[in-house]
Amino acid sequence: MPESKKKQKCYITTPIYFPSGMPHLGTSYSTIVADVFARYKRLQGCDVMFTTGTDEHGQKIELNAAKSGKTPKAYVDEIVKDFKKLWKTLGISYDKYIRTTDNNHVITVQKIFKKLFDKGEIYKGKYKGWYCTPCESFFTDAQLVDGKCPDCGREVNFTEEEAYFFKLSKYQDRLLKYYETHPHFIEPESRKNEMIQFIKSGLNDLCVSRTSFKWGIPVDFDKGHIVYVWLDALTNYITSQGYLSDNDEDFKKYWPADVHFVGKEILRFHVIIWPAILMALDLPIPKQVFGHGWILFGDGQKMSKSRGNLVDPVMLCDRYGADALRYFLIREFSLNDDGLFTNEALIKRINFDLANDLGNLLSRTVAMVNKYFGGVIPSEQRPGNLDNELIGFAINLKKDYEIKMNNFRFASALSDVWLLISKCNKYIDEMMPWKLGKDPSCYDRLAAVLYNLCEVLRIISILISPVMPETSLKIQEQIGADAKICSFDMADNWGMLPENVKVSNLGALFPRIDVEKEIKELEKILDSTNAKKSEKDNSAENIDTDKINLVGIEDFAKIKLKVAKVISCEPVKKSKKLLKLFLNDGVAERTVVSGISQYYTPEDMIGKNIILVSNLKSAKLCGVESHGMILAATCPDGAPKVIFVDDVPPGSDIH
Ligand code: MSP
Repeated sequence: MPESKKKQKCYITTPIYFPSGMPHLGTSYSTIVADVFARYKRLQGCDVMFTTGTDEHGQKIELNAAKSGKTPKAYVDEIVKDFKKLWKTLGISYDKYIRTTDNNHVITVQKIFKKLFDKGEIYKGKYKGWYCTPCESFFTDAQLVDGKCPDCGREVNFTEEEAYFFKLSKYQDRLLKYYETHPHFIEPESRKNEMIQFIKSGLNDLCVSRTSFKWGIPVDFDKGHIVYVWLDALTNYITSQGYLSDNDEDFKKYWPADVHFVGKEILRFHVIIWPAILMALDLPIPKQVFGHGWILFGDGQKMSKSRGNLVDPVMLCDRYGADALRYFLIREFSLNDDGLFTNEALIKRINFDLANDLGNLLSRTVAMVNKYFGGVIPSEQRPGNLDNELIGFAINLKKDYEIKMNNFRFASALSDVWLLISKCNKYIDEMMPWKLGKDPSCYDRLAAVLYNLCEVLRIISILISPVMPETSLKIQEQIGADAKICSFDMADNWGMLPENVKVSNLGALFPRIDVEKEIKELEKILDSTNAKKSEKDNSAENIDTDKINLVGIEDFAKIKLKVAKVISCEPVKKSKKLLKLFLNDGVAERTVVSGISQYYTPEDMIGKNIILVSNLKSAKLCGVESHGMILAATCPDGAPKVIFVDDVPPGSDIH
């Protein structure tokens, strides 16, 4: 391995998770994706720093803790134990686990806040929202239930609170310039335009302190203020490395991060707020931020407790092993897009790809070496037809694999490895070793065939190791390959297994599954662990337009109209008419579904300011929860025309 490669550093991060509940399969996805990349980089010989952790402050945690009768710290301590246990079960090879309640994080965030304040990057202003006095809490429009406090149901008042703001707006041009000069900063490319549009439509300064709750990092020079959300959370990527501390060697060595893996809904914070904070601190910007898609469940929803679609990763690991689950998530879904989780897809992947294709190849090969040669492949070997084709394919695989892995095309890299596996199975069918075994004059040919299969299995074991670390070692053990010949630079070398290599049968890699029976079993388990969904589906057709009558001003006043910005937009999969819009109403974000897709493309909508009916009861349209409605006029030809108000800032009320 070249010396320069050995020393190349690589800093990889996952998002830090809210410990507001148990981690589930959805939250495991970000971590598994990052772990695969970290293992791949180590395999390449890089000096890897891989971090994950928990985002432990904020009102939600404070409330959850109070509900369970614990202090916030005791509450998060419990959940963090579960996170760490799950990461162990899933084989997550993190180097550091950062908690935002760690003392060094708290102290450094205070230093960062002060530094930004002293530099004039943070200033004091006013935060506006609905305040519930008995609960001492601020709520956004979207959080109110029938215009009342969502917690106690009492009246709320529109109030202002003193708060500090970060001058995000001044970084607009610098951010756009940065994207231009660093074309690979935002990955995948398909999400870049959305970010550019968002910036171009104008950035507001960012609220970075609150006084209405206590569970957070205190601003040490202004009592009563707590550092608010993103400044506390995003900075984990540098506090974990010792930034502004006496022990900052890792920071000097590893910063800037090579890649932050995040879910698509928090990409914006990582490519707009985070680089702006770093620019304000005069620090280098991370090289790449990858915003992956979501794993959707059942009717196309993101996993959540309230939707009753939680899939427990521990249960799946208990049944099939962590490697099988990791393989499924990486092979089945492209990182760039959303993917639908189904029990059937999971079981089939395990059965066909793992038990049949890979498992069978190994067990057949080992069984034949045992049967014909007592477990040791003889050194007298005769090359023959088709060997070169198989060998050529195997040793050339690494090149493409590396390109794909470097470009985050993990599923495609795995798919190529499975092509090699199927070529091996075909090679066995064509070579018919059981026939060669009947004729002693063909033993040297049989020995060559079995040696070739073991060599390919060695290469396969190397290439699958980032995704299936345990399986990789099991294969190496069975074919008698030691670690020295299983490093990455051995993956394009042929003939590394020694003469007279000894194999051992250590049992099947993956048990075969009765697909139908297992799917039923899984459904039973998931149903019994999830509360039944209570919400009734409201379809668009249920809206009764005939009952519209004249209304008094008091009724009209109940409708809250405000201006919101379209941050992202996509068609609703199961519908020809609906678009799903992700809006920012100046205070919070929400999803709204609108029947305009025959007249507007997502690109027509992104970055535009529209009028939102913000206190409409949520409804489900084609399986997507819609929180509000956007206003459109119906033209004489029947076509809807969305009312755009691009000169009015998001958050403005319409009376
Ligand atoms: N605490 C913030 C992140 C701060 S990072 C400086 C947060 N936490 S989270 O717990 O809500 O989500 C963490 C990650 O889990 C996000 O990247 C999110 O996209 C991911 N996922 C949660 N559910 C998911 C799916 N169903 N599918 C894929 N990823 C999902 O946001």
